[in-house]
Amino acid sequence: MEKYLVTSALPYANGPIHFGHIAGAYLPADIFNRFLRQNGKEAVYICGTDEHGVAITINAEKEGVPFKQYVDNYHRVIKEFFDKLNIRFDHFSRTTTPEHYALSQEFFLALHGKGYIKSAAEPQFYCAACGRFLADRYVSGACPKCGADNARGDECTKCGEWLDPSRIVSPACKVCGRKPEIRQATQYFIDLEAFAPQLKDWLESKKNWKPNVRNKALSLIEEGLVKRAITRDLSWGVPVPLEEAKGKVLYVWFEAPIGYISATMEWARLNGKPESWKDWWFDKETKLVHFIGKDNIIFHTIMWPAMLMGQDKPYIIPENVPGNEFYNLEGRQFSKSEGWYIDTADFFSKYGVDALRYAIASNAPETSDSQFTWEDFQARNNELADGLGNLVNRCFSFIKKNFGGRIPAMAADLKPEDKALLDGFSAVFAEAGNSYYSYKVRQAVSQAMALAHAANKYFNDTAPWTLRKTDLARCGTVLNIASRAIINIAILLYPVIPDTAFKILAKAGLSPDGKAPQFKPYDGDLNDITLGADDSLLLAKITDDQIKLEVEKLRPKN
Ligand code: 2FM
Ligand code: ZN
Repeated sequence: MEKYLVTSALPYANGPIHFGHIAGAYLPADIFNRFLRQNGKEAVYICGTDEHGVAITINAEKEGVPFKQYVDNYHRVIKEFFDKLNIRFDHFSRTTTPEHYALSQEFFLALHGKGYIKSAAEPQFYCAACGRFLADRYVSGACPKCGADNARGDECTKCGEWLDPSRIVSPACKVCGRKPEIRQATQYFIDLEAFAPQLKDWLESKKNWKPNVRNKALSLIEEGLVKRAITRDLSWGVPVPLEEAKGKVLYVWFEAPIGYISATMEWARLNGKPESWKDWWFDKETKLVHFIGKDNIIFHTIMWPAMLMGQDKPYIIPENVPGNEFYNLEGRQFSKSEGWYIDTADFFSKYGVDALRYAIASNAPETSDSQFTWEDFQARNNELADGLGNLVNRCFSFIKKNFGGRIPAMAADLKPEDKALLDGFSAVFAEAGNSYYSYKVRQAVSQAMALAHAANKYFNDTAPWTLRKTDLARCGTVLNIASRAIINIAILLYPVIPDTAFKILAKAGLSPDGKAPQFKPYDGDLNDITLGADDSLLLAKITDDQIKLEVEKLRPKN
């Protein structure tokens, strides 16, 4: 049976994550996963923290905290943040588990055994003062490709090039600032070129991918794939499982994606079915979907698939890699260290999780960079409060006041405006369903909201407050149809605003059981359903004064 294995990029356990991360790899995946469940698909949603790598060790050293303690802390912080945002993984693991170490070593050995990984001595930067080889971000300097002067050893943040640390121009040791010397050292290299034909065929067959992801991957192959060092001389990481490689660990980008599998293994074990991970990773019917940010494209479309192709076991390869663009804050990148961030505790003390999810989803960086601005957040929040919250409130309080809280019956003779609204439901579900399936969340949201606007118009035009005095049966029909529209909007928007959707269904008297509501027009009988007792305001509007205060709080440190 067709089933989905959904993943979000494993965030580094290297500090709190922010709305920018959420918009790229997490909210879109959570929405997709929830939507799959609504459609009765078998799905598992996996993530975890990426706990190795030089970005982490540099910061832990700066703070004087042992590596393990450092990642334990951020694993917890990040997990709590996801919980807060209602990002519902089936399992949230980490790359410091025994399963992960063992599997990463197995991956290495399989590739090594087949000759895809070989050792070679290469010139590398060595800091004599610090007494170490300068792996990855331990060296900084100018990018050999674009010339930007703040490139890190393994990556230029300006042009996005994946670098070998030894190529950095005007290198300096990140820790002591001294100019490093060159020394020969042996590392292990993966022969990506050997996979080029297979990767090319696979990528060319993926006509439904986002063009930015597919084109980037194909152009990398076109430029020619080179051998990549996948080991480092560091003390923190997964040890290279070879006698002659003592003191070396696997490069973080080699082992991190294996975390998708090791996390699934851990999930299976914790569920009491330790072998069941194979039902996902070894079954050709599984659609593997990796949600990532655009800076991770090369790893998920070249390196990782090559690693999977080179195994002896029948691993599946990705079905799709929805890569999103960046999501900034008021015109520049979120950065806590630069003072350009939103304090999330403060944020959630005032605004709802669903207001944020809705604002991000309706302005998601799907095809180009987008941004969180307070003004946009206010506008989206108020659009939801006006378009949906107000409709729910008007319709249900009217029923409570005039029909004893029971949804009145729909008459048999319907007017054209009734039919138009009712007949439109299936089309909206079909359209929004297609959008969700093709990772177009913005479009799905606007299709669902178009129904909300149509329902508002229907309510205004039919004017039940007048009908109540002139034609009570007709008034009942209108309220029945409006209630049905409200329920359908809740179902359509459930992936984006799950808590609010459940609240609406409860208000409508449908006592949702916590399971994702089926993605189809509600076809149950509404006659005489008693509305829920909860009369609380569904969504509050945000005032101009509130927003003004928030904007004033944003102060860059430089
Ligand atoms: O860019 C990042 O934040 C990486 N930690 C993503 C890793 S994704 C996967 F391969 F593990
Ligand atoms: Zn140094």
